[in-house]
Amino acid sequence: MTDLVRYTKNGDVGVITIENPPVNALSPGVPEGIDEAIQAIAKDPEVKAAVLIGGGKTFIAGADIKEFVKLTSGTRQNDIGILPFLLKIEDSTKPVVVAIHGNALGGGLEVAQACHYRVASADARVGQPEVNLGIIPGAGGTQRLPRLVGVEKAIEMCTTGKPVKASEAVQFGLIDRIIDGDLLAGAVAFAREVAGKPTRKTRERTEKLGNAEQNAPVFAAARESARKKYRGMICQLAAIDAIEAATKLPFEKGCEEEARLFYQCLYSDQSKAQIHAFFAEREVSKIPDVPKDTPTIPVNSVAIVGAGTMGGGIAMVCANAGIPVVIKDTDQAALDHGLATIQKNYATSVKRGRFTQQYVDERLKLIKTTLNYADFANADMVIEAAFENMALKKEIFAELDRACKRGAIISSNTSTLNIDEIAAVTSRPEAVIGMHFFSPANVMRLLEVVRGRKTGKDVIATCMQLSKKLGKVGVLVGNCRGFVGNRMFLPYIREAQFLVEEGATPEQVDKALVDWGMAMGPLAVGDLGGLDIAYRIRKEFRHLEKPGARQPFVEDRLVEMGRLGQKTGSGWYKYDGERRASSDPEIASLVKKWNAESGIPQRQISPEEIVDREIYIMVNEGARILEEGFALRAGDIDTIYVNGYGFPAYRGGPMWYADTVGLKKVYDRISEFHRQHGALWEPAPLLKKLADSGKKFADYERDSARAAD
Ligand code: CAA
Repeated sequence: MTDLVRYTKNGDVGVITIENPPVNALSPGVPEGIDEAIQAIAKDPEVKAAVLIGGGKTFIAGADIKEFVKLTSGTRQNDIGILPFLLKIEDSTKPVVVAIHGNALGGGLEVAQACHYRVASADARVGQPEVNLGIIPGAGGTQRLPRLVGVEKAIEMCTTGKPVKASEAVQFGLIDRIIDGDLLAGAVAFAREVAGKPTRKTRERTEKLGNAEQNAPVFAAARESARKKYRGMICQLAAIDAIEAATKLPFEKGCEEEARLFYQCLYSDQSKAQIHAFFAEREVSKIPDVPKDTPTIPVNSVAIVGAGTMGGGIAMVCANAGIPVVIKDTDQAALDHGLATIQKNYATSVKRGRFTQQYVDERLKLIKTTLNYADFANADMVIEAAFENMALKKEIFAELDRACKRGAIISSNTSTLNIDEIAAVTSRPEAVIGMHFFSPANVMRLLEVVRGRKTGKDVIATCMQLSKKLGKVGVLVGNCRGFVGNRMFLPYIREAQFLVEEGATPEQVDKALVDWGMAMGPLAVGDLGGLDIAYRIRKEFRHLEKPGARQPFVEDRLVEMGRLGQKTGSGWYKYDGERRASSDPEIASLVKKWNAESGIPQRQISPEEIVDREIYIMVNEGARILEEGFALRAGDIDTIYVNGYGFPAYRGGPMWYADTVGLKKVYDRISEFHRQHGALWEPAPLLKKLADSGKKFADYERDSARAAD
């Protein structure tokens, strides 16, 4: 066998164990090793059946994605070639039982589909998550899966990419038996039960494939839904096409069609961007001066200051991770209101089937409230989520310094304020850090972990580790105004206002960006969060703006009229009782009037210009952030945008997108906007440097970074 696959015998059952940590990916050597073991089993008269199992924490988590990158970048010539070895497993006359624990994902599930029987631990997860990488199953998954589970279920699994628990998969025929207790022992016993029986090839099964008449409406509905739900993406439609091929063509021809669609997706810009997003998300945990073995502080209890929207959401996040929390506010009414909101949110989750009542009851038991800082004395970590005001935060942190035990981490959920200034009021700035959750905290995956000048490395390591435990993508950022996400977002929001002030309608601005792939348009986002928030930030930081730089005015006037967005029923749009937006003729006439008074020349603005101005203003700010060292890598900025700002993963993030367009082209366009619109468009020096030398943001490595020193 190869180094990555071990073959042993348990009496008359051959046991093939994959040993390719950490996730047993199908790297070169794994398929070959399994193949050799299958051949050895065929030749050995003592062996009557086989078990295929993963060593370590998991079964196979899929093809080795790094091999795909090699293929598309030209450093690997031959294709991945998993299909032929799966045929050999399937052709084995001795039954092969796959035993699944951890994950059987992508190519891993495809291997399992080619085996004759599938047994699993109840909590194992099985799925075809390829669409998250912009591709489709490429090792027969679109052909074998519908044969095992039916067309509708196969479409669901291949288009959503969501794994299902083995305990659920057993109900629709993907798993034959759940094994309680020792998986290997259970699988070997199962193998003995089926030894000697004729094997059944999945590829020859047709009973669940349906007929053309039944399937036509299913495929039509799936395509319609995919076009809506995955706006702009190509892989979901390709997956549906491939599954349809399974219902119309013989298996071999279906596999050829799958391969054609697979490679079409793999070589697309969308897949390259999504694979970048996958690796960038994993790279964020690598911090040059905080290595993996940095000691961490156990966090077994959390105290939260503030029972508002953020505080309540963060409490739910902690409780969902099994961590007890105590929430403090200044009066009982605020606590009662906060707790009622938490209960209401949980009730909605139960209603939607996301949680069971029992799960929610257990979570609620973990959440306590208090009016007194004395109840913080034993907390391992504090997350302050009070009103965004420096004087108030300083008061709170001075209190926390008195109340908290030594060794506790004291963090702030501030989105804009200076962490060093907050830390300075305590006697332990090394314990102070920013934990910037995004609203709603219990939903959004992003968490900016903000490093202060004196923050301890153990504190950083703990917060990065904790973010994973909380189900968040924690990205370490430096302490600058707006940190990384909002520092780039503010110019984006501002530019959207300028576009309206030059003659684009709010609908045109939002539509151009939504059509391009953003989850929402910038003006609709403002309405959602409340226009008063950005207004307050604009006023508070006006003194820091470039002198003489252009200022937007329309949104300020809307706020001053009391149009604060969704919460007041009107902002850039008007909203009905269900918070559904519609165009507001009053806005159209007000904007027209104000624009005329301003003297700004009015013109038609194309969707292309809207997108270029919106995205490039962010890219330019991102380049400054990178050069100044407030983000460690361009990929960290992309991770922030894909996970926290509704940036389409299939464009990889703003920095990856700019690399794809070509930095010379981006630089030239920004220079053009600079000439037209003045100082706010001054090209970032790093952008110019990279553009001049034909490089990309992805190539850029700073010697040191403020998110790392
Ligand atoms: N290929 C290569 N490397 C992989 C990998 C894969 N399929 N899956 C995970 N890794 C790597 C990660 O990059 C990471 O590496 P570093 O430690 O160097 O950063 C390491 O394995 C651990 O991964 P995570 O940090 O993500 O670990 P986790 O425990 O949080 O999650 C997981 C484990 C759920 C398996 C998650 O890694 C995951 O979702 N992986 C991708 C699964 C996937 O998409 N499979 C389909 C691949 S495409 C395919 O199979 C096509 C086909 O039809 C043949």
